[in-house]
Amino acid sequence: MAVSLDGFIARENGDLDWLPSGEDVAGEDHGYHAFMDTVDAIVMGRNTFEKVLSFGVGWPYADKPVVVLSRSAYELPADLPDTVCVLGGTMTDIVAGLLQRGFEHVYVDGGVTVQHFLRDGLIHRMILTVIPVVLGSGIPLFGALAEDAQLSLWDHRSWPSGLVQLTYEVNGTNT
Ligand SMILES: NC(=O)c1ccc[n+]([C@@H]2O[C@H](COP(=O)([O-])OP(=O)(O)OC[C@H]3O[C@@H](n4cnc5c(N)ncnc54)[C@H](OP(=O)(O)O)[C@@H]3O)[C@@H](O)[C@H]2O)c1
Repeated sequence: MAVSLDGFIARENGDLDWLPSGEDVAGEDHGYHAFMDTVDAIVMGRNTFEKVLSFGVGWPYADKPVVVLSRSAYELPADLPDTVCVLGGTMTDIVAGLLQRGFEHVYVDGGVTVQHFLRDGLIHRMILTVIPVVLGSGIPLFGALAEDAQLSLWDHRSWPSGLVQLTYEVNGTNT
């Protein structure tokens, strides 16, 4: 996740205009492609899915399995690959279904979605790329938890653009 220094992943209206442009970070490899190569499946919230579609640059995940979370009878656009599906239900059921399909490394994307997975002890590792900007308000990455999520710092990197990437292991996960 790309996150502002004050913990937001988007402006309140969903805008991502505060993310650095390709020009700002030219020549820097923040590890996205290497990370994606290790991912078996992506789980994203419906809002994040709609944001991805709004970029209008085509489906960016090729034939990687993608689960879009929604509690409604959400209909996917017809032109998407059949590797994309919509699921609801509890986080535990969703994760059990993914494991049953043989997916082990799942990339969880979206604010509310990450909050639900974290709350249910289902996040093992968090990779946060901190953008040097304070937004003051927006869509938060984190929300209320019944108890603290204890983390161990696993890696940290920084780049001349000012981006700092923090990788944490989440202690005491449920799977
Ligand atoms: N900076 C970054 O790296 C980054 C990364 C990802 C996203 N974003 C931005 O963050 C914004 C979206 O984040 P968000 O917090 O608004 O939402 P989100 O997690 O993308 O989507 C929330 C929606 O997902 C569904 N959902 C979530 N948990 C569910 C569950 N347990 N069971 C069933 N459905 C569930 C619900 O859809 P229904 O309402 O249909 O039930 C819910 O309204 C977008 O602006 C996106 O661009 C930024």
